[in-house]
Amino acid sequence: MTLLAHDEPNPWMSVTPPIVQSSLFTFATVEDMEQRFAGHGSQPIYSRGDNPTVQLFEQKVAELEGGEAARAFSSGMGAISAAILSLVKSGDRMVCVRDVYPDAYRFMQKLLSRLNVTVEYVDGSDTDAVIARLEGAAVLYLESPTSWTMRTQDLHRLATAARQRGVVTLCDNSWATPLYQQPLKAGIDLVVHSASKYLSGHSDTVAGIVVGSQARIDAINDLTYPYLGAKLSPWEAWLLLRGMRTLPQRLSAQRRSVGVLSRRLREHPAVASVLHPTLGSDSRTPAEEGGSPFTIALQPHIDPRKFCNALRLFKLGVSWGGYESLVIPSIVSLAQAASVANALIDFDVPTNLVRLHVGLEHAEDLWQDLAQAFELARL
Ligand SMILES: Cc1ncc(COP(=O)(O)O)c(C=O)c1O
Repeated sequence: MTLLAHDEPNPWMSVTPPIVQSSLFTFATVEDMEQRFAGHGSQPIYSRGDNPTVQLFEQKVAELEGGEAARAFSSGMGAISAAILSLVKSGDRMVCVRDVYPDAYRFMQKLLSRLNVTVEYVDGSDTDAVIARLEGAAVLYLESPTSWTMRTQDLHRLATAARQRGVVTLCDNSWATPLYQQPLKAGIDLVVHSASKYLSGHSDTVAGIVVGSQARIDAINDLTYPYLGAKLSPWEAWLLLRGMRTLPQRLSAQRRSVGVLSRRLREHPAVASVLHPTLGSDSRTPAEEGGSPFTIALQPHIDPRKFCNALRLFKLGVSWGGYESLVIPSIVSLAQAASVANALIDFDVPTNLVRLHVGLEHAEDLWQDLAQAFELARL
């Protein structure tokens, strides 16, 4: 991907882009400053608004997603909340897929409800059921595939149906990345990312981004971005630019390992099923486009706690998308109090699920790790 390797020349001709670590930008004269405040020119004013290193990251992701513009945030949740809040008002109804990322669910249940915005949750793999709920809704929120259950949505049909009914569509594209899924090209209005995942790829940054038409990003710039203040720092934008250089290579290596492991896991007597978008009979994701993480359902004779404790290469931890393999059992997330709007409890996620993120270690080493942990986890 030339876009990821190539940068336009900068004033110093440095091969890596400069980190413009400055909170503000100065003007030579009052007249220059007045002109800029009146909306002329593009010189940055203040880094809560625009910063050149952050802008470079925004431009690259916009181009990768095929969008006109993008706005970066200090987290995926910053991007998700600012995008949704730019679209809804009191009295609105949203439609959202079941098994949405748990903190997006908490945001909707705890904060949007206080703003008198209601959210209906529908199984996103049932396209007709989603379309049936669209009439009169303000927003349709998609995440394909969904967290934990890894269910995909028919983005094209849903985007078309939503547009016909005046419903704005958003899709969380963190899992597939623009390399494997371009929701805007399917007609979705806004794409959101937890850039903390694959775009970063090195588990050293928490960041987010929203991509869409200039008009939709302008609405975010006008209504939410400057005031919620969840801006991305220049240093983290630089780390993201560096991480993205190897996005295609990382993804294809991880994808190959996921292919090996998921096929073997499906045959393993300790595993009841493998939840991965490429493995279902109605899969909309071609096998070669599968990513990580994915979920396994353990057989009743395997203890998820013992299994995860026995793993050595797969480290216990949240998040995913980095170079290191990670594991988290659903019992951990289910243990969070129900009073905080627990998506896993509310969407009936069972206790025998384990989510695996496959990193850049050798697939055979990872397989040995899984195999020995299954042995030790027998009840
Ligand atoms: C699918 C998905 N979307 C959004 C987020 C939120 O992103 P962040 O943690 O960068 O706020 C996450 C984080 O785990 C996620 O997995």
